[in-house]
Amino acid sequence: MCGIVGYIGYRNVCDVLLDGLKRLEYRGYDSAGIAINDGNEIEIIKEVGKVSDLERIVANVAPKGNQGIGHTRWATHGGVTTVNAHPHSDEYKRFVLAHNGIIENYHELKEALAAEGFTFISQTDTEVIAHLLSKIYEGDMLKALTSLQDQLRGSYALAIMDREDKNHIYCMRKGSPLVLGIGEGESLCASDIPAILPYTRKVMYMDDGEIAQLSSQGIKVWDAKGTPIQKKSFFIDWDLSMAERGGYPHFMLKEIHEQGGVCRSTLKGRISGGSVDLSGELSMDEHTMISFRAVHLIACGTSYYASLIAERIFERWTDLDVKVDIASEYRYRDSKITPDTLVVFVSQSGETADTLAAQRKARACGAYCLAVTNVQGSTLARCCDDVLLLKAGPEIGVAATKTFMGQITALYLLAMYIAKVRGTFPIEQESELIDELLQIPYKIETVLEREHLIEELASKFAFSQNFLYLGRGISFPVALEGALKLKEISYIHAEAYAAGEMKHGPIALIDPNVPVVVVAPKDSLYEKTLSNIQEAKARHAPIIAVGFDGDERLASDADHVLCVPPTLEEFSPFVTVVPLQLFAYHVAKKRGCEIDKPRNLAKSVTVE
Ligand code: G6P
Repeated sequence: MCGIVGYIGYRNVCDVLLDGLKRLEYRGYDSAGIAINDGNEIEIIKEVGKVSDLERIVANVAPKGNQGIGHTRWATHGGVTTVNAHPHSDEYKRFVLAHNGIIENYHELKEALAAEGFTFISQTDTEVIAHLLSKIYEGDMLKALTSLQDQLRGSYALAIMDREDKNHIYCMRKGSPLVLGIGEGESLCASDIPAILPYTRKVMYMDDGEIAQLSSQGIKVWDAKGTPIQKKSFFIDWDLSMAERGGYPHFMLKEIHEQGGVCRSTLKGRISGGSVDLSGELSMDEHTMISFRAVHLIACGTSYYASLIAERIFERWTDLDVKVDIASEYRYRDSKITPDTLVVFVSQSGETADTLAAQRKARACGAYCLAVTNVQGSTLARCCDDVLLLKAGPEIGVAATKTFMGQITALYLLAMYIAKVRGTFPIEQESELIDELLQIPYKIETVLEREHLIEELASKFAFSQNFLYLGRGISFPVALEGALKLKEISYIHAEAYAAGEMKHGPIALIDPNVPVVVVAPKDSLYEKTLSNIQEAKARHAPIIAVGFDGDERLASDADHVLCVPPTLEEFSPFVTVVPLQLFAYHVAKKRGCEIDKPRNLAKSVTVE
């Protein structure tokens, strides 16, 4: 959803910006641009397409300088053209800026500025900001930016340069993420940490309304009224190799293969003496946990499917009323959100605009808000009462895989912990459940060793045009996630249904050209799922099943079986989702798709 990077220091800024944009490209990749102050003027270079397209152009121009900003775009206002690409400037190319977000009142501002004689060349909302800044500026940038904030409605993360000030870059933020990197003799700003990691691991997270001034000597920050503030800095414990491909052809494949480790790290330190203990990291005390009446799990995309799995686990282990909703729906519904409701927001980035808006609603209703996220200093983490972190490391592939694994691991721990405190956890099963949970990372790794079998199967079905995914109970959200992965990266139409619903409509779609993927672990609904396989078979659909090792009945009923190591009913999603991720990956690869950057998608969606 647009990536911004800014640098001031002693390095050749062009290299820093291009490297940063590549690391942020997952946020948008329809066009990209950089602006560099070469000592006399600010040179702006933009190009439609990927950062590599921009890089080709830049190679001929090679602008030199130590102060610059860059942007990779996911278009909202204005088509994908070079003119609409960022950075944008005022008419005199004095103020140049890159923007992530949407200016909601841009239309009225544009009309007013046009009436005063300002000339616009792009269709973007962003250009308005550059003209407005040039109008407001009277020699004091801080004053101009506080006034600019008062006039802009909507969301923005902004990196701004003034041609006449070679020593500073300015940043502002409201609603869109911006991280500041504090280096030695250099400072950076970026939409996300991977762009900063090569230079420093010391960061500050900007909050809404704040204004920052970056220089080679350090960073100063002011609040919305222009009062200087001291901000806390954080040390990022991710290392650079985590944000690199490490020999894999795609980030997605690398991240799929990291899932055993992600599950293990997310469990680490959270189970002691054969029992889950989160008391060291959650602030909610026993009294608060006992007082909850309901738990709501709110998320978007893959995080929503992780929440649907958790819904069943909370239902099984706790006595709470459990509700799951898509963030963009929840915020407009009349759900009963009370102070005794625990609202769990699940978001790998912690920056998804819909999830943040839902959090504001829950907060206003007095609910207890907990973030389950992969990013320690994210907006969501900072807005909630409590945070439970996934230990997944940076996820770069746009299609989420390892963060899904981290999310379900963290959510299972949370459900177990709350259930234990409330006295509803099946204590007689505790050691069996914990022992099995600790075995899960190894079982995930066993599935990964079978990748070649999944790849072979993917070759057979890579050119099918429609897929149906089915699952019952806890396997239904797994089917949803499997279908989503296929859609996202291979552009094949794939629908997922609760297997019992097939007869109520989707069965009409079945014919010999529609493969049906059935998630069929040997659980309490297994027999019913087998009946659904028979129904699909009777209509000549090719059946691909995901089932447990040694399941001969499934092997004889289905045309193809992707086997996973058996586990307890509760934990089957951890292993059944992995072949579906790999299947989607290999289908997309066979079709020659851009796996890490699927069309139209962005990893972090910071607009509503
Ligand atoms: C986008 C991404 C999805 C992701 C969703 C929610 O749509 O493409 O992969 O699941 O946002 O993101 P979040 O960061 O809130 O988990």
